[in-house]
Amino acid sequence: MRLLITVARRIHKRPLYTPTSCLSSAASCSGAATNSGLQFRDDQLVSGSTGELVQRLRGQVEVRTEFISEEEEGALMKELEPGLRKKRYEFDHWDDAIHGYRETERAQWGAVCEGVMDRLRAVAFSEGSPLLGPVHVLDLDKAGYIKPHIDSVKFCGSTIAGLSLLSDSVMRLVRKDEPAEWLNLFLPRRSLYILRDQARYKFTHEILKDDESLFSGQRVPRHRRISVICRNLPV
Ligand code: OGA
Ligand code: MN
Repeated sequence: MRLLITVARRIHKRPLYTPTSCLSSAASCSGAATNSGLQFRDDQLVSGSTGELVQRLRGQVEVRTEFISEEEEGALMKELEPGLRKKRYEFDHWDDAIHGYRETERAQWGAVCEGVMDRLRAVAFSEGSPLLGPVHVLDLDKAGYIKPHIDSVKFCGSTIAGLSLLSDSVMRLVRKDEPAEWLNLFLPRRSLYILRDQARYKFTHEILKDDESLFSGQRVPRHRRISVICRNLPV
């Protein structure tokens, strides 16, 4: 367990990158139900610096709303909460990519959660793609956020797939060598996001803090958020 947590920490220890601020002008409309009351159509969950960029990264950036049911979210929380509650949120490691978090890893699940993991693996990874053993669980406090970073290429492969529990949030991708190129992803509670290939290697990703949490000009209140993240191994 200690070794695995060490690997998770190495994934996060990396130079930070500060992007330019960005807002898109896409209009909201009916679609996915969210816990902030915001509604966006499925094809409006990704906005970006240009329509051309959104098109170019289509297939490498995916958000699937309602990927898990309320019951499945409850089952995941029931399995994860007792272990998480024993830890304290970490706020003061200035060199960490994450602020206000606690984390754990999980290799074994009960039947309902294992069903969710099977579904996630089936949609995010090609068959036979070797996965990083345990699933990474990250609990962000309401005041917590994830700074821009790129996951370690030494420990993680081409695909990162994450479930969002408890809160809607905004994930921002900014191109490492061209900060004018950015995408914002609206991640509703109980959705799954998948980052692949260039979106994973060439763009930093971050989860915005509550007071910067905007998508298409609309406030997305950030509450405590738990993510359950699967990664594959580098080839
Ligand atoms: C990470 C990360 C995103 C999330 O842990 O490296 O980027 O959804 N997490 O929590
Ligand atoms: Mn990451």
